Amino acid sequence: MCGIVGAIADRDVVPVLIEGLKRLEYRGYDSAGIAVVDGSDIRRVRRTGRVAEMEGAAGSEGFSATLGIGHTRWATHGGVTESNAHPHVSHGVALVHNGIIENHEQQRERLMAMGYAFESQTDTEVIAHLIHHYLQGGDDLLGALQRAVKELHGAYALAVVSRKEPGRMVCARMGCPLLIGLGEGENFVASDVSAILQATRRVIFLEEGDTAEVRRDGVQVFDGDDQPVLREEHLSDVSLSSLELGPYRHFMQKEIHEQPRALGDTMEAIIDAGVFEPTLFGKDAEAVLRGIEGVQILACGTSFYSGSVARYWIEAISGLPCSVEIASEYRYRTAVANPKHLVVTISQSGETLDTMEALKYAKSLGHEHTLSICNVPESAIPRASKLVFYTRAGAEIGVASTKAFTTQLVGLFALAATLAKLNGRLSEEKEAEYIEALRHLPGSVQHALNLEPQIALWSESFTPRHHALFLGRGVHYPIALEGALKLKEISYIHAEAYPAGELKHGPLALVDDAMPVVVIAPNDSLLEKVKSNMQEVRARGGELFVFTDADSNFSESEGVHVIRTPRHVGVLSPIVHTIPVQLLAYHTALARGTDVDKPRNLAKSVTVE
Ligand code: M6R
Repeated sequence: MCGIVGAIADRDVVPVLIEGLKRLEYRGYDSAGIAVVDGSDIRRVRRTGRVAEMEGAAGSEGFSATLGIGHTRWATHGGVTESNAHPHVSHGVALVHNGIIENHEQQRERLMAMGYAFESQTDTEVIAHLIHHYLQGGDDLLGALQRAVKELHGAYALAVVSRKEPGRMVCARMGCPLLIGLGEGENFVASDVSAILQATRRVIFLEEGDTAEVRRDGVQVFDGDDQPVLREEHLSDVSLSSLELGPYRHFMQKEIHEQPRALGDTMEAIIDAGVFEPTLFGKDAEAVLRGIEGVQILACGTSFYSGSVARYWIEAISGLPCSVEIASEYRYRTAVANPKHLVVTISQSGETLDTMEALKYAKSLGHEHTLSICNVPESAIPRASKLVFYTRAGAEIGVASTKAFTTQLVGLFALAATLAKLNGRLSEEKEAEYIEALRHLPGSVQHALNLEPQIALWSESFTPRHHALFLGRGVHYPIALEGALKLKEISYIHAEAYPAGELKHGPLALVDDAMPVVVIAPNDSLLEKVKSNMQEVRARGGELFVFTDADSNFSESEGVHVIRTPRHVGVLSPIVHTIPVQLLAYHTALARGTDVDKPRNLAKSVTVE
């Protein structure tokens, strides 16, 4: 979704802003702009479409300055137009904003009554006018920002410059991430560290309610009471190479192929220890996890599906009851809390608003025991949680989540095993067996990746279709859901997933020779049931595409296509069976010529409702 970058330096910051915005493109956006302080003037360029178009306009207009801010916008309030693109300007004050201002209508009426004219339909423009209003009253830029944000309801990350104060930029954060990058004689702000990695790795994460003043020679942060406060400096470990495509055609393809490495990194501490330790989830985790009587998982999208796999594992392995719910639903229903349950939020980005709000709601209901499974260190959701398991997938750029999903599953499997151990339900033999299964996992995933040429051939059958069904049973049903989500989001083919046993209760009516049916059918205890369900499809002319593993006794026949992973990997089978459905979606999208990494209408980080 929206992205922010800002810079103050002794050199021209326009290339820094443009490069930063390009690094933020993966988040999804529909327009881009920059504003710079040039002498005693604000100069601004905005364009709908790609950053490159805005860059061209800035180049031809000769933009150059030592202080500036930039933004990629994903439209919420007001259409995709140049006048709605950020930065917004009010009488020499320019501002970029991520988030949503809920009371913007009241503020707009009030400011219009004061004589302010609006040129956009955005919620953001009120903030620019509010800051100008307080500047008129005698405040300096920082004071005006601090006053203005106290009148806002909603979520914001803001970076602001003024033509009257060319020596600083000011910023504020509430509900949306914002960080300050520390350079030598130059400093930066950004909503995501990838935007400033070209210049520095040293970062300060702003906390909720913070404001800050950023000058060339220093930074001062203020807390929600406007008192100076020290925030710790961190060294980002996001590597620039994770933001480069390398030999791959798309980030999604790269990220699918990175999974053996990502899984290996994520499980490194488990494999090194050779046992499941509560400390995997934080140094004080044992005290929390030992008393847990159940688990409530909250997440969205692909992360919800990893939670859905985890429900099978947690109940079967640890014996604890486990519920999993879509965060945007949980946050708005009257839930009954059991404070002895562990609330687990799962989020690749760590900043999904629905998941964050669901976590806050759970806490307000009395849930004290919270664990975040997350891929982005220091992001909002882990910071708001008592315990954390960081997946080590590395930056995930493709909008379609791939390596984040499989690494989340490793964290969740470790949670199931750890809870089982603390409950006296994990024998030493079983623990050793699970560790061994993990140890072999990257190799098994690599075998599944080697099936790519066969899967690419299959994709030719999907490319002309309008619909597809995905079936699975038990712990593989969420993999069918994930396969359907991947296919629909990047190829735009309508895809639905069902537990195979549910087919006869309705969806079977959809099956005819135009409906390809993908079946996840590993050689587990439900295989014979799945085979019966497949007969039901075949009898109605449906064409079957079966992903299975060794010894499952499937043979190819007319209308039944089979791809086999080399061996059954037992309890971790859902992870291995994820790879073929990712590859099928990728190759189908490739053949259909869609924008694989930035599918239409979607954003990488969903920071709005
Ligand atoms: O960052 P999160 O894991 O919280 O994101 C949740 C969903 O928005 C995300 O998984 C989305 O469904 C992906 N586009 C799926 O590929």
